[in-house]
Amino acid sequence: MHEPRRLPDDKRAAYAELARDLDGLLAGESNLIAGAANMSSLLYWSLPEVNWVGFYLLDAASGDLLVGPFQGKPACVRIAPGKGVCGTAAARRETVLVPDVHLFPGHIACDAASNSEVVVPVVADGRLLGVLDVDSPVTNRFDADDSAGLEALVRVFLRHCAPERAGP
Ligand code: SME
Repeated sequence: MHEPRRLPDDKRAAYAELARDLDGLLAGESNLIAGAANMSSLLYWSLPEVNWVGFYLLDAASGDLLVGPFQGKPACVRIAPGKGVCGTAAARRETVLVPDVHLFPGHIACDAASNSEVVVPVVADGRLLGVLDVDSPVTNRFDADDSAGLEALVRVFLRHCAPERAGP
Protein backbone atom coordinates (compact mmCIF):
# COMPACT_ATOMS: atom_id res chain seq x y z
CA MET A 1 0.00 0.00 0.00
CA HIS A 2 1.19 3.52 -0.72
CA GLU A 3 -0.03 6.42 1.39
CA PRO A 4 0.54 9.87 -0.15
CA ARG A 5 2.22 11.96 2.55
CA ARG A 6 2.56 15.60 3.39
CA LEU A 7 5.12 17.25 1.14
CA PRO A 8 7.57 20.02 2.09
CA ASP A 9 6.26 23.56 1.56
CA ASP A 10 9.19 24.33 -0.74
CA LYS A 11 7.91 23.40 -4.21
CA ARG A 12 11.21 22.17 -5.64
CA ALA A 13 11.82 19.98 -2.58
CA ALA A 14 8.24 18.71 -2.83
CA TYR A 15 8.62 17.72 -6.49
CA ALA A 16 11.96 16.04 -5.73
CA GLU A 17 10.21 13.93 -3.06
CA LEU A 18 7.32 13.19 -5.41
CA ALA A 19 9.78 12.05 -8.09
CA ARG A 20 11.33 9.58 -5.62
CA ASP A 21 7.87 8.37 -4.54
CA LEU A 22 6.75 7.96 -8.14
CA ASP A 23 9.92 6.05 -9.02
CA GLY A 24 9.14 3.59 -6.23
CA LEU A 25 5.45 3.39 -7.11
CA LEU A 26 6.09 2.58 -10.78
CA ALA A 27 8.97 0.16 -10.20
CA GLY A 28 8.50 -3.35 -11.57
CA GLU A 29 5.59 -2.69 -13.94
CA SER A 30 5.93 -1.18 -17.41
CA ASN A 31 2.24 -1.15 -18.43
CA LEU A 32 1.40 2.39 -19.49
CA ILE A 33 -2.22 2.41 -18.30
CA ALA A 34 -1.30 0.96 -14.91
CA GLY A 35 1.48 3.51 -14.45
CA ALA A 36 -0.67 6.41 -15.63
CA ALA A 37 -3.44 5.37 -13.21
CA ASN A 38 -1.18 5.25 -10.18
CA MET A 39 0.64 8.44 -11.17
CA SER A 40 -2.68 10.30 -11.46
CA SER A 41 -3.68 9.10 -8.02
CA LEU A 42 -0.33 9.98 -6.43
CA LEU A 43 -0.44 13.53 -7.81
CA TYR A 44 -4.13 14.06 -7.06
CA TRP A 45 -3.70 13.08 -3.43
CA SER A 46 -0.33 14.79 -2.92
CA LEU A 47 -0.48 18.15 -4.71
CA PRO A 48 -2.30 20.92 -2.87
CA GLU A 49 -5.21 22.75 -4.50
CA VAL A 50 -5.84 20.48 -7.49
CA ASN A 51 -9.26 19.21 -8.62
CA TRP A 52 -8.34 17.11 -11.67
CA VAL A 53 -5.18 15.19 -12.54
CA GLY A 54 -4.89 12.79 -15.41
CA PHE A 55 -3.80 11.75 -18.84
CA TYR A 56 -5.17 12.23 -22.32
CA LEU A 57 -3.65 9.59 -24.58
CA LEU A 58 -3.12 9.85 -28.32
CA ASP A 59 -5.51 7.73 -30.37
CA ALA A 60 -3.31 6.86 -33.35
CA ALA A 61 -6.27 6.07 -35.62
CA SER A 62 -7.96 9.47 -35.31
CA GLY A 63 -5.11 11.67 -34.10
CA ASP A 64 -7.39 12.80 -31.25
CA LEU A 65 -6.52 12.79 -27.57
CA LEU A 66 -8.70 10.36 -25.61
CA VAL A 67 -9.23 10.60 -21.89
CA GLY A 68 -7.07 8.09 -20.02
CA PRO A 69 -6.50 7.31 -16.36
CA PHE A 70 -7.40 10.26 -14.13
CA GLN A 71 -8.66 11.40 -10.74
CA GLY A 72 -11.39 14.00 -10.51
CA LYS A 73 -14.84 14.55 -12.00
CA PRO A 74 -15.80 12.81 -15.26
CA ALA A 75 -14.16 14.66 -18.14
CA CYS A 76 -14.62 15.24 -21.86
CA VAL A 77 -13.69 12.08 -23.72
CA ARG A 78 -12.11 13.24 -26.98
CA ILE A 79 -10.04 16.31 -27.81
CA ALA A 80 -9.32 17.05 -31.48
CA PRO A 81 -5.74 17.89 -32.52
CA GLY A 82 -4.77 21.44 -31.59
CA LYS A 83 -7.93 22.03 -29.53
CA GLY A 84 -8.05 23.24 -25.93
CA VAL A 85 -5.06 23.46 -23.64
CA CYS A 86 -4.37 19.73 -24.02
CA GLY A 87 -4.43 19.78 -27.82
CA THR A 88 -2.24 22.89 -27.84
CA ALA A 89 0.40 21.30 -25.59
CA ALA A 90 0.30 18.15 -27.72
CA ALA A 91 0.66 20.07 -31.00
CA ARG A 92 3.48 22.24 -29.71
CA ARG A 93 5.06 19.37 -27.76
CA GLU A 94 5.73 21.79 -24.96
CA THR A 95 4.27 22.46 -21.55
CA VAL A 96 1.41 24.98 -21.54
CA LEU A 97 0.83 26.91 -18.33
CA VAL A 98 -2.55 28.67 -18.12
CA PRO A 99 -2.87 31.06 -15.15
CA ASP A 100 -6.57 31.75 -15.90
CA VAL A 101 -8.41 29.25 -18.09
CA HIS A 102 -11.17 31.78 -18.77
CA LEU A 103 -8.65 33.87 -20.71
CA PHE A 104 -7.33 30.97 -22.82
CA PRO A 105 -9.01 31.01 -26.25
CA GLY A 106 -10.55 27.60 -26.94
CA HIS A 107 -10.17 26.27 -23.40
CA ILE A 108 -12.34 23.16 -22.97
CA ALA A 109 -14.20 23.33 -19.65
CA CYS A 110 -14.64 19.87 -18.11
CA ASP A 111 -15.00 20.78 -14.44
CA ALA A 112 -16.54 24.20 -13.84
CA ALA A 113 -14.41 24.47 -10.71
CA SER A 114 -11.16 24.65 -12.71
CA ASN A 115 -9.59 28.11 -12.93
CA SER A 116 -5.97 27.36 -13.83
CA GLU A 117 -4.28 24.49 -15.59
CA VAL A 118 -0.93 23.08 -16.66
CA VAL A 119 -0.50 20.49 -19.42
CA VAL A 120 2.74 18.58 -20.01
CA PRO A 121 3.25 16.58 -23.22
CA VAL A 122 4.31 12.95 -22.84
CA VAL A 123 6.84 12.24 -25.60
CA ALA A 124 8.94 9.06 -25.86
CA ASP A 125 11.73 8.88 -28.43
CA GLY A 126 10.18 11.76 -30.35
CA ARG A 127 6.76 10.06 -30.40
CA LEU A 128 3.80 11.78 -28.75
CA LEU A 129 1.98 9.39 -26.39
CA GLY A 130 -0.38 11.94 -24.86
CA VAL A 131 -0.42 14.67 -22.23
CA LEU A 132 -0.57 14.98 -18.46
CA ASP A 133 -3.21 17.54 -17.42
CA VAL A 134 -3.42 19.11 -13.95
CA ASP A 135 -6.28 21.50 -13.05
CA SER A 136 -6.75 23.75 -10.04
CA PRO A 137 -9.70 25.70 -8.67
CA VAL A 138 -7.21 28.48 -7.75
CA THR A 139 -6.41 31.10 -10.38
CA ASN A 140 -2.66 31.35 -11.03
CA ARG A 141 -1.98 28.14 -9.06
CA PHE A 142 0.92 26.94 -11.23
CA ASP A 143 4.31 28.51 -11.95
CA ALA A 144 7.62 27.58 -13.57
CA ASP A 145 8.53 25.34 -10.62
CA ASP A 146 5.34 23.33 -11.22
CA SER A 147 6.10 23.03 -14.94
CA ALA A 148 9.66 21.86 -14.27
CA GLY A 149 8.54 19.55 -11.46
CA LEU A 150 5.77 17.94 -13.53
CA GLU A 151 8.08 17.57 -16.53
CA ALA A 152 10.55 15.72 -14.29
CA LEU A 153 7.73 13.45 -13.08
CA VAL A 154 6.76 12.70 -16.68
CA ARG A 155 10.39 11.70 -17.35
CA VAL A 156 10.20 9.28 -14.39
CA PHE A 157 6.93 7.91 -15.83
CA LEU A 158 8.54 7.41 -19.25
CA ARG A 159 11.55 5.62 -17.75
CA HIS A 160 9.16 2.97 -16.41
CA CYS A 161 6.23 2.96 -18.79
CA ALA A 162 7.26 4.10 -22.29
CA PRO A 163 6.27 1.39 -24.77
CA GLU A 164 9.11 -0.26 -26.69
CA ARG A 165 9.60 1.26 -30.10
CA ALA A 166 8.25 -0.98 -32.84
CA GLY A 167 10.83 -1.57 -35.54
CA PRO A 168 14.03 0.38 -36.27
N1 SME B 1 -9.25 21.91 -20.02
C1 SME B 1 -8.72 20.94 -20.94
C2 SME B 1 -9.66 19.78 -21.14
C3 SME B 1 -9.47 18.67 -20.20
S1 SME B 1 -10.07 18.95 -18.67
O1 SME B 1 -9.43 20.12 -18.04
C4 SME B 1 -9.96 17.65 -17.68
C5 SME B 1 -8.38 21.60 -22.25
O2 SME B 1 -8.72 22.76 -22.48
O3 SME B 1 -7.77 20.95 -23.08
